[in-house]
Amino acid sequence: MQVEHVGYVVKSIEKSVVEFEKLGYEKCSTFFKDEKRKINIQFMKKDNYEVELIEPHDEESDAYAYYKKLRNGPYHICYKVDNIEESIKKLVENGYILVKEKEAAIAYENKNVCFLYKDAMGLIELVEK
Ligand code: NI
Repeated sequence: MQVEHVGYVVKSIEKSVVEFEKLGYEKCSTFFKDEKRKINIQFMKKDNYEVELIEPHDEESDAYAYYKKLRNGPYHICYKVDNIEESIKKLVENGYILVKEKEAAIAYENKNVCFLYKDAMGLIELVEK
């Protein structure tokens, strides 16, 4: 499991991009509007670190609960895996709860992603390579 990115919930991608750029990050994707998950997404990169800025559209959005709790801030780490089904199985055996079934993500060339949660860890995302 390699770290792919840190997911960062923000109120406004437009405003946050400016701040990340001041710290030396550069945009490394186009701007995605995911109507299904009700979020906007922009990936940025600095050195070998990638952040995914996630802006909820409204209160029904996937990430809104995290925004409400944290305001702007990191809320998940995404890991690259070879086989998403196998990884889910191992993590569930290890006490994780599958909170978001695997689905094709528009921001990821429709690669499969899913989210798991464990109290002692928090939220993690898997993306199949
Ligand atoms: Ni993510």
